[in-house]
Amino acid sequence: MHKDIEKVLVTEAQLHDRVKELGRRITTDYAGKSLLLVGVLKGAAVFMSDLMREIELDVETDYLVVSSYGLHTEAGELTFSKDVSVDIAGRDVLIVEDMIDTGTTMHRLLEVLAERQPNSLAVASLLSKPARREKEVETRYIGFEVPNEFVVGYGLDFAEKYRNLPYVGVLHPECYR
Ligand code: IMP
Ligand code: MG
Repeated sequence: MHKDIEKVLVTEAQLHDRVKELGRRITTDYAGKSLLLVGVLKGAAVFMSDLMREIELDVETDYLVVSSYGLHTEAGELTFSKDVSVDIAGRDVLIVEDMIDTGTTMHRLLEVLAERQPNSLAVASLLSKPARREKEVETRYIGFEVPNEFVVGYGLDFAEKYRNLPYVGVLHPECYR
């Protein structure tokens, strides 16, 4: 285990099993449709790459980057550092995210993407911290609910570090103080 990790919350094996299960559900739910997976970079990159390989359908993949700067203030707006590169109108879109925390980012992202009139719009998030929720977000697929602790690994970072850990773990508090 990495020296900065206090405890492992979700092991590599648990991640593997759960992602496989989500892939199976998505395969069933979107049968006969042309699914567009939209990964939210950078955090969802690892989850996205594993999840897409568990979906037995023809899928198209795309990515976006949102900057949440100022999002938690009154005037906060969602800005796309990188928008999707396809027109999502009429498409079946599944947003793939690493974590729903307060819900602010996903709530706003859903509003913005819904305006473009996709045929359907749903969310798959690897993790969720329900105790922190401020904005309701309907998340059709959730990997794991985690307690109110700062977690890293499997795509999630602290100051751009730890994304490459193969498990999800809690960082030693002295590492982010
Ligand atoms: P929000 O509070 O739901 O808007 O969360 C915004 C983003 O913050 C999430 O998509 C994550 O990328 C990031 N985030 C929230 N909690 C954690 C955490 O515990 N570790 C790493 N990133 C996090
Ligand atoms: Mg994120």
